[in-house]
Amino acid sequence: MSKIFVDACFGKETPYTPVWMMRQAGRYLPEYMEVRKQAGNFLNLCHNPKLAAEVTLQPVDIVGVDAAILFSDILVVPNEMGMKLDFLAGEGPVFDKPVRNEADLNALLGGEEAASRLTYVYETIKIIKEQLADDKALIGFTGAPWTLATYMIEGEGTKTYNICKKMMYANPELLHKILAKVTEVVKLYMEKQIEAGIDVVQIFDSWAAAIEPAKYDEFSWKYMVEIAEYLKAKYPHIPIIMFPKGIPAFLDKVYGNFDVFGVDWSTPMGLAKEKLGEKYVLQGNMEPCRLYSKEATTQCVEALQNIMGGKRHIFNLGHGILPDVPVENAKHFISECHRVSKK
Ligand code: CP3
Repeated sequence: MSKIFVDACFGKETPYTPVWMMRQAGRYLPEYMEVRKQAGNFLNLCHNPKLAAEVTLQPVDIVGVDAAILFSDILVVPNEMGMKLDFLAGEGPVFDKPVRNEADLNALLGGEEAASRLTYVYETIKIIKEQLADDKALIGFTGAPWTLATYMIEGEGTKTYNICKKMMYANPELLHKILAKVTEVVKLYMEKQIEAGIDVVQIFDSWAAAIEPAKYDEFSWKYMVEIAEYLKAKYPHIPIIMFPKGIPAFLDKVYGNFDVFGVDWSTPMGLAKEKLGEKYVLQGNMEPCRLYSKEATTQCVEALQNIMGGKRHIFNLGHGILPDVPVENAKHFISECHRVSKK
């Protein structure tokens, strides 16, 4: 059975414009909180294929999205390269020993050795695929090497990125070595996700905006393109979505062999269409906080429909859904996307 989401990724005509939400499997759903409690904590949930599959499927059943996204986290990759990871309540992710020099980097596992340790992710994908309806797609994902490197180098989330940016300007060779090692793991990780059954790949460069436009290609985009080229050569039938958050000044320079460009909420959709709409399908880009108001949601969905005209478009938020959004409003967003785009 053909999947509307996969068709839309390749720019084919579809009966309506499909929609999903970044971070759709998460804390705004009481059903998610229940399963997380059962698992004990967030990382245990990521490591438990049966429960991770269950929360992956929740938004499909509850809010009616057209694609499921694998429940996991981008940081399981550095975790399996050998970095000890914790999620502290209220503070987010923390690594106990950040990568600050060549010896730290050399101590980490690379390539196949690291990618083959992520067995619980591949197992989760297999379980999801047994349970997901044939007409729905499963999105697998990874963090971009740059976004992963920010956590690996800083050791936690950061507002200033001063440690990794000091490395960018004062010791770029070391940063490139870190990015290259992560890129090799990610290529194999995504290949194994595809072999396990995902239908679509998304690469999240959540912290793209931390890099000045003149340096963005060198330190992030080219590594994302390298991953896309590697996967496209082997799996041309698997669409690839690139989501670099907050880089309107780089739109003119976007290149590479991928299918869908994820537009974040700070970039006007009309501008993205003008610059990239012929080359790539565009995904996005409602400001996630509009979900606090049904009226603000409807207004934006209609405006996006007017700009894109139901062509070469996938509805989504311009970043992740927040934990205090009412479930009813999330359902409203999905049904409005379907309503306005139905042919
Ligand atoms: O989108 C989905 O529904 C799939 C699951 C998913 C999670 N993280 C689950 C999660 C995905 C695709 C991610 C990706 C991710 N993780 C990104 C890139 C996407 C983005 O939003 O920009 C980043 C930067 C991370 C790193 C990360 N994980 C942070 C900074 C945090 C803590 C911040 C927060 O929101 O609490 C996490 C934890 C995390 N990942 C949660 C979930 C559901 C919350 C954990 C919990 O249940 O308490």
